[in-house]
Amino acid sequence: MNRILITGGAGFIGSNFVHYMLQRFPEAQLVNLDALTYAGNLENLADIASDPRHRFVHGDIRDAALVNRLFDEFDFDTVVHFAAESHVDRSITEPELFLTTNVVGTQTLLEAAKRHWKIAPDDKYSREYRPGVRYLQVSTDEVYGALGREGKFTETTPISPNSPYSASKAGADLVVRAYHETFGLPVSITRCSNNYGPYQFPEKLIPLMIHNCQTDQPLPVYGDGMQIRDWLYVEDHCSAIATVLEKGRPGEVYNIGGNNEKANIEIVKLIIHSLGKSEDLIKYVKDRPGHDRRYAIDNGKITSELGWKPAYTFEDGMAKTIAWYMEHTEWMEHITSGAYQSYYQKMYG
Ligand code: NAD
Ligand code: TYD
Repeated sequence: MNRILITGGAGFIGSNFVHYMLQRFPEAQLVNLDALTYAGNLENLADIASDPRHRFVHGDIRDAALVNRLFDEFDFDTVVHFAAESHVDRSITEPELFLTTNVVGTQTLLEAAKRHWKIAPDDKYSREYRPGVRYLQVSTDEVYGALGREGKFTETTPISPNSPYSASKAGADLVVRAYHETFGLPVSITRCSNNYGPYQFPEKLIPLMIHNCQTDQPLPVYGDGMQIRDWLYVEDHCSAIATVLEKGRPGEVYNIGGNNEKANIEIVKLIIHSLGKSEDLIKYVKDRPGHDRRYAIDNGKITSELGWKPAYTFEDGMAKTIAWYMEHTEWMEHITSGAYQSYYQKMYG
């Protein structure tokens, strides 16, 4: 794990991962490939702009020539694939983009990794790869679909995605699996629950509610607000990925979660009270079509097999997160001016 291609490293989790790796793995050389869509933001990387261990490349994961050139130039031994269209609400209005970025983009990276890492790339029966190489697919618990009141997702829960976003992530996971089964490519798949923390784009629940609270705008809660998500502080997701890279068995799926189930409305009220605002800001709006009711992760495999555990309680993680957004109002202002305004108008009217 010395020369790592990180895709989507200007987005929320990817940029946190870049910071995490530079702190915890000082030997690692990182190349960060990101197309800078609306969700990619170089301000997330401003503090490490002059760090020689991190190289930013502006480009698209679907550009096979570029991806192959990067493999030739940097001789990666590891790929950590974050780049994706990641927002469920946008997938309802633009499903095609989700399929091309999330499925075709993943296949482009897998093909380049196979070509560069296979000892005999032209022998279709050979399954021998350079030692120590690994492709890690950052996936999501949403591929499992929705739960009722009871139970949790395990790695053997059938894939049953409900939104175009989760369907595209599930499709990508299946292509990753096929590259392992057919070609023997050493892969890992991680499926994490909802993340929160610094640098998250304010289209997602927690930063959107913090921003709207700060600016005294209505807080749009979908349906009855009783949908449940299993929240994990982003740094814990990063440490779990690093653990899978170091210790995960090739071809395996690892669920990542911290046993933190919360109803949306609880989170909204926690943010309101932390910022000293009034619950009158809450505005119940029409529900999201096909809205998954509940997600919950059984993290038994990664905790018992690999010894990973989260470092942050929900209370600590939320306190850190709210403090970060309070201290970075300029970061938020830059994002919420311009194109964000028209997205917000279209989405919430
Ligand atoms: P994000 O939307 O904040 O960031 C995505 C990044 O990918 C952006 O920087 C964007 O510019 C880049 N990108 C998009 N299309 C690209 C392309 N064609 N080529 C190159 N770069 C491209 O997303 P996030 O929340 O940081 O999620 C990262 C990954 O983690 C995704 O794969 C997502 O499915 C997965 N995930 C997210 C969560 C969560 O709660 N946010 C939970 C589990 C898994
Ligand atoms: P989100 O952050 O979009 O993540 P995901 O849909 O991938 O879980 O949404 C988290 C939950 O919050 C989900 O149940 C939808 C809900 N939600 C609202 O109620 N209002 C909002 O404005 C947003 C963005 C989300």
